[in-house]
Amino acid sequence: MIEKITAIFQQKFGTQPAFIAQAPGRVNLLGEHVDYNDGFVMPVAIDRATYIAFSPAAGLETCLVAADFDQQARFSSDSIATKTQTDGSQMPEWGLYPAGMCWALSDAGLATPAINAVFSSNVPRGSGLSSSASVEMAFAIAWQQVGGWSLTPMERARLGQRAENQYVGVSCGIMDQFASACGENNRLLFLDCRSLQYHSLPLPENIALVVADTGVRRKLTTGEYNRRHDACTEAVRLLQNHLPAIQALRDVSPEDFNRFSADLPEEVKKRARHIISEVRRTITAIPLLEKSDMAGFGKLMNECHISLRDDYEVSIDELDTMVSIAQGLPGCYGARLTGAGFGGCTINLVERTQAEQFAQLLRQGYQQATGQSPEIYICQASQGAGML
Ligand code: GLA
Repeated sequence: MIEKITAIFQQKFGTQPAFIAQAPGRVNLLGEHVDYNDGFVMPVAIDRATYIAFSPAAGLETCLVAADFDQQARFSSDSIATKTQTDGSQMPEWGLYPAGMCWALSDAGLATPAINAVFSSNVPRGSGLSSSASVEMAFAIAWQQVGGWSLTPMERARLGQRAENQYVGVSCGIMDQFASACGENNRLLFLDCRSLQYHSLPLPENIALVVADTGVRRKLTTGEYNRRHDACTEAVRLLQNHLPAIQALRDVSPEDFNRFSADLPEEVKKRARHIISEVRRTITAIPLLEKSDMAGFGKLMNECHISLRDDYEVSIDELDTMVSIAQGLPGCYGARLTGAGFGGCTINLVERTQAEQFAQLLRQGYQQATGQSPEIYICQASQGAGML
Protein backbone atom coordinates (compact mmCIF):
# COMPACT_ATOMS: atom_id res chain seq x y z
CA MET A 1 0.00 0.00 0.00
CA ILE A 2 2.71 2.46 1.01
CA GLU A 3 4.83 1.53 -2.00
CA LYS A 4 1.83 1.94 -4.26
CA ILE A 5 0.88 5.43 -3.05
CA THR A 6 4.52 6.52 -2.99
CA ALA A 7 4.96 5.43 -6.60
CA ILE A 8 1.77 7.22 -7.69
CA PHE A 9 2.87 10.34 -5.82
CA GLN A 10 6.25 10.28 -7.56
CA GLN A 11 4.60 9.83 -10.93
CA LYS A 12 2.00 12.53 -10.38
CA PHE A 13 4.02 15.20 -8.55
CA GLY A 14 7.53 14.36 -9.72
CA THR A 15 9.06 14.04 -6.23
CA GLN A 16 8.98 11.68 -3.28
CA PRO A 17 6.24 12.46 -0.72
CA ALA A 18 7.55 14.16 2.40
CA PHE A 19 5.26 12.22 4.76
CA ILE A 20 3.00 9.20 5.17
CA ALA A 21 0.02 9.23 7.55
CA GLN A 22 -2.32 6.38 8.40
CA ALA A 23 -5.60 5.90 10.25
CA PRO A 24 -7.34 2.57 10.89
CA GLY A 25 -10.91 1.35 10.48
CA ARG A 26 -12.69 -0.26 13.41
CA VAL A 27 -15.05 -2.98 14.53
CA ASN A 28 -17.43 -2.44 17.38
CA LEU A 29 -17.94 -5.31 19.85
CA LEU A 30 -20.94 -3.87 21.65
CA GLY A 31 -22.91 -0.61 21.90
CA GLU A 32 -24.40 -0.24 18.43
CA HIS A 33 -26.23 2.96 17.47
CA VAL A 34 -25.93 4.19 21.04
CA ASP A 35 -23.18 6.76 20.43
CA TYR A 36 -25.66 9.41 19.28
CA ASN A 37 -27.80 8.56 22.32
CA ASP A 38 -25.05 9.40 24.83
CA GLY A 39 -24.44 5.70 25.49
CA PHE A 40 -21.34 3.51 25.81
CA VAL A 41 -19.43 1.87 22.97
CA MET A 42 -16.73 -0.83 22.82
CA PRO A 43 -14.84 -0.53 19.56
CA VAL A 44 -11.43 -1.83 18.48
CA ALA A 45 -9.28 -0.16 15.83
CA ILE A 46 -8.27 -2.82 13.29
CA ASP A 47 -5.27 -3.58 11.13
CA ARG A 48 -6.86 -2.13 8.01
CA ALA A 49 -6.30 1.53 7.34
CA THR A 50 -6.25 4.52 5.04
CA TYR A 51 -2.74 5.64 4.05
CA ILE A 52 -1.82 9.06 2.67
CA ALA A 53 1.43 10.05 0.99
CA PHE A 54 1.64 13.85 1.11
CA SER A 55 3.77 16.97 0.91
CA PRO A 56 3.06 20.66 1.47
CA ALA A 57 2.07 22.24 -1.87
CA ALA A 58 3.14 25.55 -3.31
CA GLY A 59 0.18 27.90 -3.73
CA LEU A 60 -3.31 27.70 -2.31
CA GLU A 61 -4.67 24.66 -4.06
CA THR A 62 -4.84 21.19 -2.47
CA CYS A 63 -4.58 18.36 -4.98
CA LEU A 64 -5.81 14.94 -3.89
CA VAL A 65 -5.45 11.72 -5.81
CA ALA A 66 -7.72 8.85 -4.76
CA ALA A 67 -5.66 5.88 -5.89
CA ASP A 68 -8.55 3.47 -5.33
CA PHE A 69 -10.78 5.38 -7.77
CA ASP A 70 -8.05 6.58 -10.08
CA GLN A 71 -9.48 10.08 -9.74
CA GLN A 72 -8.31 13.42 -8.48
CA ALA A 73 -9.87 16.50 -6.91
CA ARG A 74 -8.56 20.02 -6.40
CA PHE A 75 -9.90 22.46 -3.87
CA SER A 76 -8.94 25.61 -2.01
CA SER A 77 -10.24 27.38 1.06
CA ASP A 78 -12.48 29.42 -1.27
CA SER A 79 -14.09 26.48 -3.05
CA ILE A 80 -14.46 24.24 -0.03
CA ALA A 81 -17.57 25.74 1.57
CA THR A 82 -19.60 25.17 -1.58
CA LYS A 83 -18.33 21.58 -1.98
CA THR A 84 -16.86 22.45 -5.33
CA GLN A 85 -13.43 22.09 -6.86
CA THR A 86 -11.32 25.03 -7.93
CA ASP A 87 -12.50 24.61 -11.54
CA GLY A 88 -16.12 25.03 -10.35
CA SER A 89 -17.08 21.37 -10.81
CA GLN A 90 -18.78 19.42 -8.03
CA MET A 91 -16.64 17.64 -5.44
CA PRO A 92 -16.70 13.88 -6.11
CA GLU A 93 -18.32 11.85 -3.33
CA TRP A 94 -15.00 10.42 -2.07
CA GLY A 95 -13.65 14.00 -1.88
CA LEU A 96 -16.27 15.06 0.68
CA TYR A 97 -14.40 13.29 3.51
CA PRO A 98 -11.00 14.95 3.12
CA ALA A 99 -12.61 18.26 2.10
CA GLY A 100 -15.02 18.04 5.06
CA MET A 101 -12.09 17.40 7.39
CA CYS A 102 -10.28 20.40 5.96
CA TRP A 103 -13.43 22.50 6.36
CA ALA A 104 -13.93 21.46 10.02
CA LEU A 105 -10.29 22.13 10.89
CA SER A 106 -10.25 25.57 9.30
CA ASP A 107 -13.60 26.40 10.84
CA ALA A 108 -12.01 25.63 14.21
CA GLY A 109 -9.34 28.22 13.41
CA LEU A 110 -6.59 25.72 12.55
CA ALA A 111 -4.27 26.24 9.60
CA THR A 112 -4.82 23.80 6.72
CA PRO A 113 -2.10 24.69 4.20
CA ALA A 114 -2.45 23.29 0.69
CA ILE A 115 -1.09 19.78 0.22
CA ASN A 116 -0.45 17.37 -2.60
CA ALA A 117 -1.63 13.95 -1.53
CA VAL A 118 -2.24 10.42 -2.79
CA PHE A 119 -4.35 8.14 -0.63
CA SER A 120 -5.58 4.59 -0.63
CA SER A 121 -7.40 2.37 1.84
CA ASN A 122 -7.78 -1.31 2.53
CA VAL A 123 -10.80 -0.71 4.75
CA PRO A 124 -13.62 -1.91 2.50
CA ARG A 125 -16.06 0.92 1.80
CA GLY A 126 -19.67 0.72 2.94
CA SER A 127 -18.91 -2.39 4.97
CA GLY A 128 -19.49 -1.16 8.52
CA LEU A 129 -15.76 -0.88 9.26
CA SER A 130 -15.61 2.94 9.22
CA SER A 131 -13.77 3.56 6.00
CA SER A 132 -14.95 7.18 5.99
CA ALA A 133 -13.77 7.91 9.54
CA SER A 134 -10.39 6.41 8.67
CA VAL A 135 -10.10 8.82 5.71
CA GLU A 136 -11.06 11.75 7.93
CA MET A 137 -8.66 10.85 10.72
CA ALA A 138 -5.76 10.22 8.32
CA PHE A 139 -6.28 13.67 6.75
CA ALA A 140 -6.55 15.27 10.19
CA ILE A 141 -3.07 13.87 10.88
CA ALA A 142 -1.80 15.13 7.52
CA TRP A 143 -3.01 18.70 8.14
CA GLN A 144 -1.74 18.59 11.69
CA GLN A 145 1.68 17.68 10.29
CA VAL A 146 1.79 20.60 7.88
CA GLY A 147 -0.37 23.05 9.85
CA GLY A 148 1.95 23.62 12.80
CA TRP A 149 -0.66 22.89 15.46
CA SER A 150 -1.39 19.88 17.60
CA LEU A 151 -4.69 18.48 18.85
CA THR A 152 -5.39 15.49 21.08
CA PRO A 153 -6.74 12.41 19.31
CA MET A 154 -10.16 13.05 20.86
CA GLU A 155 -10.18 16.63 19.58
CA ARG A 156 -9.38 15.39 16.09
CA ALA A 157 -12.15 12.82 16.43
CA ARG A 158 -14.69 15.48 17.39
CA LEU A 159 -13.80 17.63 14.42
CA GLY A 160 -14.06 14.56 12.19
CA GLN A 161 -17.55 13.93 13.52
CA ARG A 162 -18.40 17.56 12.85
CA ALA A 163 -17.20 17.18 9.26
CA GLU A 164 -19.39 14.13 8.82
CA ASN A 165 -22.45 15.76 10.47
CA GLN A 166 -22.26 19.16 8.86
CA TYR A 167 -20.31 18.71 5.67
CA VAL A 168 -21.12 15.17 4.52
CA GLY A 169 -24.59 15.30 6.10
CA VAL A 170 -24.67 12.09 8.16
CA SER A 171 -25.94 12.52 11.74
CA CYS A 172 -23.41 10.01 13.05
CA GLY A 173 -22.06 9.81 16.58
CA ILE A 174 -18.44 10.00 17.72
CA MET A 175 -17.60 6.29 17.81
CA ASP A 176 -15.90 5.75 14.45
CA GLN A 177 -13.65 8.80 14.51
CA PHE A 178 -12.86 8.11 18.17
CA ALA A 179 -11.83 4.50 17.49
CA SER A 180 -9.76 5.48 14.47
CA ALA A 181 -8.03 8.27 16.41
CA CYS A 182 -7.57 6.55 19.78
CA GLY A 183 -7.08 2.84 18.95
CA GLU A 184 -4.52 0.84 20.92
CA ASN A 185 -2.61 -2.32 20.06
CA ASN A 186 -4.25 -5.47 21.45
CA ARG A 187 -6.77 -3.46 23.41
CA LEU A 188 -10.44 -2.76 23.32
CA LEU A 189 -11.70 0.77 23.93
CA PHE A 190 -14.59 1.68 26.19
CA LEU A 191 -16.03 5.15 25.63
CA ASP A 192 -18.74 7.06 27.44
CA CYS A 193 -20.18 9.07 24.55
CA ARG A 194 -21.61 11.70 26.90
CA SER A 195 -18.58 12.62 28.97
CA LEU A 196 -16.12 11.43 26.27
CA GLN A 197 -14.16 9.73 29.06
CA TYR A 198 -12.60 6.51 27.87
CA HIS A 199 -10.30 3.73 28.92
CA SER A 200 -8.93 0.62 27.30
CA LEU A 201 -8.99 -3.01 28.33
CA PRO A 202 -6.70 -5.81 27.16
CA LEU A 203 -8.36 -8.22 24.78
CA PRO A 204 -8.18 -11.68 26.37
CA GLU A 205 -5.35 -13.64 24.75
CA ASN A 206 -7.44 -16.69 23.97
CA ILE A 207 -9.82 -14.62 21.81
CA ALA A 208 -9.74 -13.92 18.08
CA LEU A 209 -11.82 -11.19 16.47
CA VAL A 210 -13.11 -12.56 13.21
CA VAL A 211 -14.69 -10.18 10.72
CA ALA A 212 -16.97 -11.68 8.08
CA ASP A 213 -17.98 -9.54 5.13
CA THR A 214 -21.32 -10.33 3.49
CA GLY A 215 -20.13 -8.42 0.42
CA VAL A 216 -23.36 -6.37 0.48
CA ARG A 217 -22.50 -2.67 0.41
CA ARG A 218 -24.56 0.11 1.89
CA LYS A 219 -24.34 3.86 1.65
CA LEU A 220 -24.42 5.53 5.02
CA THR A 221 -25.57 8.75 3.44
CA THR A 222 -28.90 7.22 2.48
CA GLY A 223 -31.66 8.50 4.76
CA GLU A 224 -32.11 5.33 6.85
CA TYR A 225 -29.35 6.20 9.30
CA ASN A 226 -30.58 9.75 9.83
CA ARG A 227 -34.13 8.44 10.22
CA ARG A 228 -33.00 6.19 13.10
CA HIS A 229 -31.37 9.21 14.68
CA ASP A 230 -34.60 11.21 14.36
CA ALA A 231 -36.69 8.41 15.89
CA CYS A 232 -34.43 8.48 18.96
CA THR A 233 -34.83 12.25 19.28
CA GLU A 234 -38.60 11.83 19.02
CA ALA A 235 -38.59 9.10 21.70
CA VAL A 236 -36.73 11.40 24.10
CA ARG A 237 -39.20 14.21 23.42
CA LEU A 238 -42.21 11.97 24.14
CA LEU A 239 -40.69 10.26 27.17
CA GLN A 240 -39.89 13.65 28.69
CA ASN A 241 -43.64 13.96 29.36
CA HIS A 242 -43.12 11.34 32.07
CA LEU A 243 -39.41 11.75 32.75
CA PRO A 244 -38.68 15.49 32.43
CA ALA A 245 -35.05 15.14 33.55
CA ILE A 246 -33.90 12.89 30.68
CA GLN A 247 -31.54 14.36 28.09
CA ALA A 248 -31.02 11.28 25.93
CA LEU A 249 -32.19 7.66 25.75
CA ARG A 250 -29.17 6.73 27.82
CA ASP A 251 -30.98 8.27 30.79
CA VAL A 252 -33.98 5.95 30.50
CA SER A 253 -33.80 2.68 32.44
CA PRO A 254 -35.45 -0.41 30.94
CA GLU A 255 -37.83 -0.37 33.93
CA ASP A 256 -38.96 3.23 33.29
CA PHE A 257 -39.23 2.47 29.60
CA ASN A 258 -41.63 -0.41 30.32
CA ARG A 259 -43.73 1.89 32.47
CA PHE A 260 -43.94 4.79 30.05
CA SER A 261 -43.56 3.45 26.53
CA ALA A 262 -47.23 2.58 25.93
CA ASP A 263 -48.08 5.89 24.25
CA LEU A 264 -45.07 5.95 21.89
CA PRO A 265 -45.82 5.28 18.21
CA GLU A 266 -44.91 1.66 17.44
CA GLU A 267 -41.85 2.43 15.33
CA VAL A 268 -40.43 4.97 17.77
CA LYS A 269 -41.03 2.52 20.60
CA LYS A 270 -39.05 -0.23 18.86
CA ARG A 271 -36.14 2.06 18.05
CA ALA A 272 -35.98 3.31 21.64
CA ARG A 273 -36.23 -0.23 23.02
CA HIS A 274 -33.11 -1.20 21.11
CA ILE A 275 -31.14 1.75 22.43
CA ILE A 276 -32.26 1.30 26.03
CA SER A 277 -31.55 -2.45 26.06
CA GLU A 278 -28.22 -1.91 24.31
CA VAL A 279 -27.06 0.64 26.87
CA ARG A 280 -27.90 -1.91 29.59
CA ARG A 281 -25.95 -4.60 27.71
CA THR A 282 -22.82 -2.47 27.51
CA ILE A 283 -22.97 -1.76 31.23
CA THR A 284 -23.40 -5.46 31.96
CA ALA A 285 -20.53 -6.33 29.62
CA ILE A 286 -17.66 -4.52 31.32
CA PRO A 287 -17.35 -6.71 34.43
CA LEU A 288 -17.74 -9.80 32.23
CA LEU A 289 -14.84 -8.68 30.09
CA GLU A 290 -12.73 -7.82 33.12
CA LYS A 291 -13.06 -11.36 34.40
CA SER A 292 -12.64 -12.81 30.87
CA ASP A 293 -16.14 -14.29 30.87
CA MET A 294 -16.28 -14.64 27.11
CA ALA A 295 -19.36 -16.85 27.13
CA GLY A 296 -21.25 -14.15 29.02
CA PHE A 297 -19.94 -11.38 26.79
CA GLY A 298 -20.72 -13.35 23.62
CA LYS A 299 -24.28 -13.92 24.78
CA LEU A 300 -24.74 -10.15 24.99
CA MET A 301 -23.42 -9.83 21.43
CA ASN A 302 -25.97 -12.40 20.25
CA GLU A 303 -28.74 -10.49 22.03
CA CYS A 304 -27.53 -7.28 20.45
CA HIS A 305 -27.94 -8.77 16.99
CA ILE A 306 -31.54 -9.77 17.71
CA SER A 307 -32.28 -6.29 18.97
CA LEU A 308 -30.68 -4.65 15.91
CA ARG A 309 -32.63 -7.01 13.67
CA ASP A 310 -36.06 -6.84 15.28
CA ASP A 311 -36.23 -3.49 17.06
CA TYR A 312 -33.78 -1.23 15.26
CA GLU A 313 -34.38 -2.98 11.92
CA VAL A 314 -30.95 -2.35 10.46
CA SER A 315 -30.08 -5.94 9.57
CA ILE A 316 -30.53 -7.63 6.21
CA ASP A 317 -30.97 -11.31 5.28
CA GLU A 318 -27.29 -11.78 4.42
CA LEU A 319 -26.17 -10.47 7.83
CA ASP A 320 -28.74 -12.67 9.61
CA THR A 321 -27.54 -15.69 7.63
CA MET A 322 -23.88 -14.98 8.43
CA VAL A 323 -24.69 -14.53 12.12
CA SER A 324 -26.81 -17.62 12.49
CA ILE A 325 -24.25 -19.86 10.76
CA ALA A 326 -21.49 -18.43 12.97
CA GLN A 327 -23.43 -18.88 16.17
CA GLY A 328 -23.71 -22.63 15.49
CA LEU A 329 -19.99 -23.19 14.90
CA PRO A 330 -17.52 -24.58 17.46
CA GLY A 331 -15.50 -21.97 19.33
CA CYS A 332 -17.90 -19.08 18.63
CA TYR A 333 -18.81 -17.10 21.75
CA GLY A 334 -20.88 -14.47 20.01
CA ALA A 335 -21.69 -13.03 16.59
CA ARG A 336 -23.55 -9.98 15.38
CA LEU A 337 -23.58 -7.33 12.72
CA THR A 338 -21.13 -4.52 13.37
CA GLY A 339 -21.42 -0.82 12.48
CA ALA A 340 -24.48 0.89 11.11
CA GLY A 341 -25.98 -2.21 9.41
CA PHE A 342 -27.93 -2.38 6.12
CA GLY A 343 -25.09 -4.53 4.75
CA GLY A 344 -21.40 -4.94 5.51
CA CYS A 345 -19.75 -7.12 8.10
CA THR A 346 -20.35 -9.23 11.16
CA ILE A 347 -18.00 -9.43 14.14
CA ASN A 348 -17.41 -12.82 15.71
CA LEU A 349 -15.77 -13.49 19.05
CA VAL A 350 -14.00 -16.82 18.64
CA GLU A 351 -11.72 -19.08 20.70
CA ARG A 352 -8.28 -18.39 19.21
CA THR A 353 -7.29 -22.03 18.70
CA GLN A 354 -10.46 -22.59 16.68
CA ALA A 355 -10.44 -19.36 14.68
CA GLU A 356 -8.98 -20.74 11.43
CA GLN A 357 -11.41 -23.61 11.36
CA PHE A 358 -14.24 -21.25 12.26
CA ALA A 359 -13.40 -18.97 9.35
CA GLN A 360 -13.28 -21.89 6.94
CA LEU A 361 -16.59 -23.38 8.08
CA LEU A 362 -18.27 -19.97 8.07
CA ARG A 363 -17.08 -19.32 4.52
CA GLN A 364 -18.37 -22.70 3.36
CA GLY A 365 -21.68 -22.31 5.17
CA TYR A 366 -22.32 -18.83 3.80
CA GLN A 367 -21.40 -19.92 0.30
CA GLN A 368 -23.80 -22.85 0.48
CA ALA A 369 -26.60 -20.64 1.77
CA THR A 370 -26.18 -17.68 -0.57
CA GLY A 371 -23.97 -18.73 -3.48
CA GLN A 372 -21.56 -15.89 -2.57
CA SER A 373 -18.01 -16.34 -1.37
CA PRO A 374 -17.44 -14.02 1.58
CA GLU A 375 -14.19 -12.45 2.71
CA ILE A 376 -13.41 -13.48 6.28
CA TYR A 377 -10.42 -12.37 8.27
CA ILE A 378 -8.98 -12.44 11.74
CA CYS A 379 -8.17 -8.89 12.74
CA GLN A 380 -5.70 -7.42 15.21
CA ALA A 381 -6.52 -4.56 17.55
CA SER A 382 -4.29 -1.75 16.31
CA GLN A 383 -2.87 1.66 17.08
CA GLY A 384 -4.90 4.75 16.17
CA ALA A 385 -4.14 7.38 13.54
CA GLY A 386 -0.62 8.76 13.27
CA MET A 387 2.41 9.46 11.13
CA LEU A 388 4.48 6.54 9.89
C1 GLA B 1 -21.97 4.38 12.02
C2 GLA B 1 -21.78 5.75 12.66
C3 GLA B 1 -21.42 5.64 14.14
C4 GLA B 1 -22.38 4.70 14.88
C5 GLA B 1 -22.55 3.40 14.11
C6 GLA B 1 -23.60 2.50 14.73
O1 GLA B 1 -20.77 3.68 11.97
O2 GLA B 1 -20.77 6.48 12.01
O3 GLA B 1 -21.39 6.90 14.73
O4 GLA B 1 -23.60 5.32 15.12
O5 GLA B 1 -22.92 3.63 12.76
O6 GLA B 1 -23.24 2.13 16.02
